[in-house]
Amino acid sequence: MDIPWWRDAIVYEIYVRSFADASGDGVGDLAGVRERLPYLRRLGVDAIWLTPFYPSPMADGGYDVADYRGVDPLFGTLADFESLVAQAHELGLRVLVDVVPNHSSSEHPWFQAALRGERRDRYIFRDTTNNWQSTFGGPAWTQVADGQYYLHLFAPGQPDFNWRDPEVHAEFLDVLRFWLDRGVDGFRIDVAMGLYKAEGLPDVGDQSFKSVSPVWGQPEVHNVYRDWRRLLNSYPGERMAVGEVWTDSSEDLALYVRPDELHQSFNFAWLQAPWSPTAFKKVIDDTLASVPFATWVLSNHDVVRHRTRYGTADPGTGLARARAALLTMLALPGSAYLYQGEELGLPEVTDLSDEARQDPVFFQSKGELPGRDGCRVPIPWTVDPPSHGFSPGGVEPWLPQPATFAELSVEKQEGDAGSTLEFYRRALACRRDLVGLIPYTLEWLDSPEGALFFSRGPLTCAINCGLRPVHLPEHDTVLLSSGPLKGDLLPPDTAVWLMTSQDARRVKG
Ligand code: NOJ
Repeated sequence: MDIPWWRDAIVYEIYVRSFADASGDGVGDLAGVRERLPYLRRLGVDAIWLTPFYPSPMADGGYDVADYRGVDPLFGTLADFESLVAQAHELGLRVLVDVVPNHSSSEHPWFQAALRGERRDRYIFRDTTNNWQSTFGGPAWTQVADGQYYLHLFAPGQPDFNWRDPEVHAEFLDVLRFWLDRGVDGFRIDVAMGLYKAEGLPDVGDQSFKSVSPVWGQPEVHNVYRDWRRLLNSYPGERMAVGEVWTDSSEDLALYVRPDELHQSFNFAWLQAPWSPTAFKKVIDDTLASVPFATWVLSNHDVVRHRTRYGTADPGTGLARARAALLTMLALPGSAYLYQGEELGLPEVTDLSDEARQDPVFFQSKGELPGRDGCRVPIPWTVDPPSHGFSPGGVEPWLPQPATFAELSVEKQEGDAGSTLEFYRRALACRRDLVGLIPYTLEWLDSPEGALFFSRGPLTCAINCGLRPVHLPEHDTVLLSSGPLKGDLLPPDTAVWLMTSQDARRVKG
């Protein structure tokens, strides 16, 4: 069987608002992404995933789409998008775009029509509410002028579609075609386990993302992905789809990646695992046992950055662990999704003022939850304020960057062999060489307490999550380590790739 490009791909998530601003309005845009494509090529990723850049009133940073076939002026034009795709392809980078099928913006013409009393069946309107809560806080229902309520599992500006209406199906197939015709290589599907709600909308006891719940994971959703798969298959070039599927079981996750459904789904269990060899081993075993094509992810635009998650009281520990987790993740069979800025070792920005915050989670939870702005702070490209090269000239970025971003900027790290950026570049380059040399399977090796050792053919990966150094497993050559080794010892919070010398010569990195 030919191995599809996405099986081992490294996909880099670009949260467009926060990546690079070419227009000088303090908000990232498509032209900014295009200018930085050589940086991504040099980093060594295979594909980029662009978060929504469609026309939107930005009630949820663009995950509230008012027009599924356009580009918001904030982010550029359709011509900018087309030239971004063309240049990415010239550089050998594939392009995935976000599709948001669970809900539209309240500014979408269909919802505007519904407000006028026309075609309400394309959304979920009722005379009375149930007890469902919005994922962002507060009730999942908002009342309109004539007394009816509409359902929104996220912000009030994000009304949920009624997928029991055939027109919704036809519309999304057409939206996918629109972007496929413009050369995209695939889609990231927002809230892929949403879409259908249980008939009768019964009250629920627990609203969290569960495999089986009236709110999420209804069986009908799988027919949608069967249709989408048929459409993707009808295009040349191995177009693909990855689902944002939050579930509480790997078996349930596996349903979304059956051979006639999605190609991949995010594996959030990996990101949710605590810093523990037993937790890591369990997620790896469950994943490899349940899905044909594994994916791995440590951070994204919705969660606390993993450097900070692993950080405990000491930020140095967080960074060491983040680098070790990356090396371990890149040694696992399957594809990995990186989030912009993790290659710089960016931490979560935890001290944003209330005035600076923009995430609806902060407002809907009435300030009880900080929200997700802390992982969305614009990327520092250069040392100098005010925007560290994010925006041209003296423009302030849409979220303030902390002073510590100067030291973490690309400019500061480039060429410094000890930097996290150069570590990522080296790891990704070695992995590129390794992919053809190692089998897709993984074998566990005996590991001392606190550590986890595994091999894939000639590659051995060891990570030490414990408090004491451990002896390295048998090897001839150290290919790469996430931090300094102490002779034959692997210090705490460190991971290493080991090889036999003969094979190591074939990994140039
Ligand atoms: C998941 C997206 O990643 C998140 O940013 C968004 O708020 C929700 N879906 C709703 O679209």
